[in-house]
Amino acid sequence: MTDTYKSAHTDFKTGFSYTSYLKLEQLLGAQECLTDAHDEPLFIIIHHVQELWMKLMIHELQSAMICLENATIDPAMKMLARVSKTQEQMASAWEVLKTMTPSDYLVFRSSFGQASGFQSHQYRLIEFLFGNKNAFMMRPHEQHLEHHRLLSQALNAPSIYDLSLRLLHQAGLTLPTSILERDYAQPYEASEIVRDAWLRVYQNTDQYWELYALAEKLIDVEDNFRRWRFNHLITVERVIGFKAGSGGTAGVPYLRRALEIVLFPELWQVRTAL
Ligand code: HEM
Repeated sequence: MTDTYKSAHTDFKTGFSYTSYLKLEQLLGAQECLTDAHDEPLFIIIHHVQELWMKLMIHELQSAMICLENATIDPAMKMLARVSKTQEQMASAWEVLKTMTPSDYLVFRSSFGQASGFQSHQYRLIEFLFGNKNAFMMRPHEQHLEHHRLLSQALNAPSIYDLSLRLLHQAGLTLPTSILERDYAQPYEASEIVRDAWLRVYQNTDQYWELYALAEKLIDVEDNFRRWRFNHLITVERVIGFKAGSGGTAGVPYLRRALEIVLFPELWQVRTAL
């Protein structure tokens, strides 16, 4: 044996090893295929990878929202930058999945019945945190009390955009209480007052630098979210065409409608108004 390896730790009777710290047996034991189909491991792993990235996104987003609630924008910016980079990873993961053809998929499709990403509680939580509120989407989670509680909390709480509007108000760009204290469980409706407030930010960037930087970070995040939705849609069309989804929706037409969702409407409108 050369000196290169001599000092390496090899006895883990006490203390953590790589395997025990990362709980790799649980993590790597979770990809349980229901068939012998060659492509089923890819299908399961891509979902697990995306759920893990979503877990990180939720952690960063919720922490960023606490910072915004306390009017500390700087640390929130760092967390949102990480959200944005995570989304880039998620958006490019489709490239791996696209190597699966419709024929490959059909070999195992019937094995997982009605399971669908539509029922992902983490995805729905992210949508609620971003402000895409829809009480109907709580229904698939009624049987799972903890998921339902988490979603219900986020549905009824201010989104990251609601918190950003509070900061506009605190910076002297006065907004009415009908906007600041709206019913957060309802979908957000764009308003000219908010558009004009953002317009002042974009026209006076030196004066409102932090809000301007925050607005651009939110645009980054929505841009990436739209990219994820688009890449998912194209992958789905490649694999199942216009067949209905396993979750019971019309499939591609449902996903196409989701492309029209706008999370931070006035931040997009301001580009035309400038
Ligand atoms: C071949 C692979 C895939 C196919 C054919 C597919 C198909 C679909 C379809 C048809 C829907 C609409 C709901 C329904 O099932 O009726 C959907 C929704 C969804 N899928 Fe996929 N999907 C695939 C891969 C993935 C992957 C890898 C993820 C990652 C987590 C994912 C996450 C989602 C999410 C979050 C939704 C809900 C979207 C929303 O409600 O706006 N899907 N998928």
